[in-house]
Amino acid sequence: MHYALCIGMSVKSPNGNVELTFSVDPDGRPVYEMSYKGRAVVKPSFLGLELAKDKHASMGLKEHDLMAGFKIEKEETSSFDETWKPVWGETATIRNHYNELAVTLSQQWLEGMPSTPEGRRPAPRQHNRQIIIRFRVYDDGIGFRYEFPQQQELNYFLIKEERSEFAMAGDHTAWWLPGDYDTQEQETQECRLSEIRSRMKQAVNWDNSSVAVFSETGVQTSLQMKSDDGLYINIHEAACADYATMHLELVDAQTKALTTKLGGGSNAYTPNPTPSEWPVPKPFTFVSHLTPDATGLKGAMQTPCETPWRTVMVSDDARDMLSSNLILNLNEPCALEDVSWIHPTKYCGVWWEMIVGRGSWHYTNDYPSIKLDQIDWTKVKPNGTHKANNENVKRYIDFAAKNGLDEVLVEGWNVGWEDWANMWKRDVFDFVTPYPDFDIKMLNDYAHSKGVKLLMHHETSSSSQNYERHIKEAYELMNKYGYDAVKTGYVGDIIPRGDHHYSQSMNNHYLYVVKEAAKHHIMVNAHEATRPTGLCRTYPNLVGNESARGTEYEAFGGSRPDHTCILPFTRLQGGPMDYTPGIFVTRLSEWSNNTSWARITIAGSLALYLTMYSPLQMAADLPENYEKFDDAFQFIRDVACDWDDSRYLEAEPADYITVARKAKGTDNWFIGGKCDENGHTAVIKLDFLDKGRKYDCTIYADAKDAHYETNPQAYTITKKVVKAGQTLKLQEAPGGGFAISLIAK
Ligand code: NOJ
Ligand code: CA
Repeated sequence: MHYALCIGMSVKSPNGNVELTFSVDPDGRPVYEMSYKGRAVVKPSFLGLELAKDKHASMGLKEHDLMAGFKIEKEETSSFDETWKPVWGETATIRNHYNELAVTLSQQWLEGMPSTPEGRRPAPRQHNRQIIIRFRVYDDGIGFRYEFPQQQELNYFLIKEERSEFAMAGDHTAWWLPGDYDTQEQETQECRLSEIRSRMKQAVNWDNSSVAVFSETGVQTSLQMKSDDGLYINIHEAACADYATMHLELVDAQTKALTTKLGGGSNAYTPNPTPSEWPVPKPFTFVSHLTPDATGLKGAMQTPCETPWRTVMVSDDARDMLSSNLILNLNEPCALEDVSWIHPTKYCGVWWEMIVGRGSWHYTNDYPSIKLDQIDWTKVKPNGTHKANNENVKRYIDFAAKNGLDEVLVEGWNVGWEDWANMWKRDVFDFVTPYPDFDIKMLNDYAHSKGVKLLMHHETSSSSQNYERHIKEAYELMNKYGYDAVKTGYVGDIIPRGDHHYSQSMNNHYLYVVKEAAKHHIMVNAHEATRPTGLCRTYPNLVGNESARGTEYEAFGGSRPDHTCILPFTRLQGGPMDYTPGIFVTRLSEWSNNTSWARITIAGSLALYLTMYSPLQMAADLPENYEKFDDAFQFIRDVACDWDDSRYLEAEPADYITVARKAKGTDNWFIGGKCDENGHTAVIKLDFLDKGRKYDCTIYADAKDAHYETNPQAYTITKKVVKAGQTLKLQEAPGGGFAISLIAK
């Protein structure tokens, strides 16, 4: 950046470690920079938005982008310190402590007026509009957002692109996913920033039902990085509502112009020239890149409004990345008055056997396609592989009841699965008509009689319009039969065609679903929906999302053993993931024709119930597979999924994570450790236990010769009595881990 900071203002975090400086450059461009303990985290970086011209929008003129020509009108600083209680979470209370800088910027320009018919030249018209850039500076990072107060000169406007820059101070190591408008289920890439371009082809070479890559250097957030001098830096966003999901485009030595338009189809990049007044930044700078809608635009705004928060977390201790509450804190407090119906949930489901391929969601094989209103399902010939049948569902209900699981997910219960995906079919499901072999009343009554609930499934096939048309009836049906949670899904390209999974319109859809569900006292677990940004603080009935590569990929060729040692640093920053852990029989060919296998040991599978925090936890394997290892399954029976306290004891991205958590409303602790393919020796100081108290300790560990590939089912179970101050040393096998329960005596 080639200018001297003119007017500047600095704000430090409460403990002084993080410092934020804001100024405008001589061209009136907003600039910020950020440091941690005196070391540069974000070097001077421009902020701004490029607006689009539109026949309806009065203030969308390109020459008046919100990028330059600003003057600082006002700089206000303030402090905030409050402790709040999440409805569910990793800790009973969360402290929200920051110093704030709110800068009001004004932009003024003269518009030359046309001559009158009499040849008079009227005086030029004076324009004046204001925006606010608000920074919150925490001990573990910053958040900033753009705010647009309502005003005559800025009322409705269209966003062509947001141009928030994040200039990194070096060629950091990054854990990244290719920037993509429609999927986030790739394996994570690990390389230096300078290597991202050369790694992109390999990163996008995979199969998914909807892929829309936009740039050779585009990556997703949450992006975890590490500097050579040991700083952990994470860029993400908070409170993304009524706005498109942000990606980051990296400027490297080869960048000539940034990509502003979606290319012609998957894996094609069409860089567009950037505005001439806006120079391409220096290498190692990330620039925001929003997800477009079907028109190619990035946002339609009406003031007063604001963007989501852009977040940069930083620490010299990797554990702080995992315990940070910065993203939740930047979200609004709970918007629901009554939250008594929201509850952490352990569940199993009629699911894994279909994912693996031993059964089907659909009921008949006899039609090349179906129209929902033209089939008499009682006359249709069943295929004999449909798994959501009364007998099979009852088997899962019995298993849940016997093992203290709260709910049973049943997929494939409703008509429409015969031609459900990628057919550009709008009316794909009605969400209320069960297949003939699924007796919805009987099964719910049966479950309730055993203290279990059924968990609803609504695959939308990304036909968002269809789902919105049916949602009220669908939720009324759930209320009628006593369902209190729904797993939604968005497989395939978005219908209406041309839209993308992470656009402003789709983000509005996902939130509409959560709000509508709240009215019906229904918890939501949305798969394939946009990656979370902490909205679960405001709407705690959003108890889960998939939004990343889940356990299902273990049946589609497998995920690397370090995958689950990365996700807590990346995907989980914005909220819990329905990872669906718990695979015990990892060689799927042992019970199916599927030759894929899960890259994890049994002890490692147990660890995920701790290291992959979620208030919604599935025991994903088949009942008969758990019965073979009933002593190990005891841990899944015992483990809590809501916590009063959490302590990250050891962590390094893509290597290992060890966490201890205190179960809600008890004195019991659970500890989990998960490692990558290299194994790990965990050293756990029990200094968080109550002094003078004894605990019954059960350790589920990898056996000496355990290995995720060759010997995944080798584990040991050891029982002893422990007390505060003692140290446990545990050997984790390659691709393995451990789980410990500590029950207070
Ligand atoms: C993808 C989801 O992630 C998976 O869990 C579900 O079974 C299928 N879609 C079908 O809805
Ligand atoms: Ca999925």
